[in-house]
Amino acid sequence: MINMDLDREIPVLDWTPHLAARTRRMKGSAIRELLKLTQQPDVISLAGGLPAPEFFPLREVEEACRYVLQQDGQKALQYSPTEGYLPLREWLATSMHKYGVPAVPANVLLTNGSQQALDLIGKVFINRDDYIITGRPTYLGAIQAWNAYGARYHTVNLDDDGMVVDEVEHAYEKVLAESGRPPKFVYVLPNFHNPAGTTLSLERREKLAEVATRLDLPIVEDDPYGQLRYEGEDLPPICTFVPERTMYLGTFSKTLTPGLRLGWIVCPEVLMQRFVTAKQGADLHTGTFVQYVANDICQRGFLKPHVQRLRQVYRERRDTMLEALAEFWPEGCSWTQPQGGLFLWARVPEPINTTDFLDRALEEKVAYVPGVSFFPNQDGGFNAMRLNFSYSPPDVIVEGIRRLGIALKRELGEL
Ligand SMILES: Cc1ncc(COP(=O)(O)O)c(C=O)c1O
Repeated sequence: MINMDLDREIPVLDWTPHLAARTRRMKGSAIRELLKLTQQPDVISLAGGLPAPEFFPLREVEEACRYVLQQDGQKALQYSPTEGYLPLREWLATSMHKYGVPAVPANVLLTNGSQQALDLIGKVFINRDDYIITGRPTYLGAIQAWNAYGARYHTVNLDDDGMVVDEVEHAYEKVLAESGRPPKFVYVLPNFHNPAGTTLSLERREKLAEVATRLDLPIVEDDPYGQLRYEGEDLPPICTFVPERTMYLGTFSKTLTPGLRLGWIVCPEVLMQRFVTAKQGADLHTGTFVQYVANDICQRGFLKPHVQRLRQVYRERRDTMLEALAEFWPEGCSWTQPQGGLFLWARVPEPINTTDFLDRALEEKVAYVPGVSFFPNQDGGFNAMRLNFSYSPPDVIVEGIRRLGIALKRELGEL
């Protein structure tokens, strides 16, 4: 036995001078920090983006684990190719095909959630001070991933039809004029935007494909919520119009479970080797076992009826939140009416700053994410907030919105 004093006091060093400049640029996610605060049992969190855990398919995952271990145990517990488990890539290519995306297994790469896909895109494309065109607001996790590579952001507005695509060309020209280099890509969330809840109209999808082609601009199409549509018709992904210039990101996080950490990139075959090399340096490959398990679940045809069920559950929760907002919130507030996904975006009267107001909300034991967190240049969203309707059951959603309504009315001097 090694004779060491395990209880001795270990001094705390200042590591800052040792860190890479890159590391100093990395900021923690406001959402992750906030989630810590909201984990107290009496706080109703409308903040995170969590799926409803009571609908996780525990039995199916358990059966799949057992089956995989019995049938394929040695392979499923072994190292495996970086590209991913071929039968799952085949299944994904076929299901992407049904969705209109012209994918074959050779252009499908399995990732550790689509968050890793965002990071790999940063690693492969972004030099320090390169610009990315994105909406305002936009997905916080993408900003976090790309900040590490020194990205800058030129933002374009969103309205009820999603990103205002007419502004993209102007954004491109401005970036080119100011930095001397074209933007690296345009980042777009086509369906049930996180955080805005909006969906990009068909006309804008076509327009974006046309503008990007004219400008020779790559497109990153991040689509975690496309399967979670509660009304209206599916719209074709932008990838269907310009597969040669689109990196399409999908994930099992919102349809199966996020804990599996399974996502994928569909990209032109000529890009695959770049991503494969980048991923090898990060983690060699996505966990073999989880890929086998997900494949077993998918091949059995479980996902389609499961997603149909989720659509029903989340549609009801969305409607509950919309009704509660109309009932409990004061005059002067407004919110988006998402046709799917997990979030809506609410605006409160101008004098209220939603970052400062969060303390007041937490006193009422309810949490949301302040709007400014989703603006990469911190230049907007001051009177907006993101509200999640997937995680809490309907009665809790009503209570959360009621509490926020009370806090808002107090703040406005109406109570
Ligand atoms: C727009 C968007 N992209 C990517 C992700 C990351 O998802 P995951 O890594 O779980 O697949 C999320 C998660 O909430 C998201 O909302």
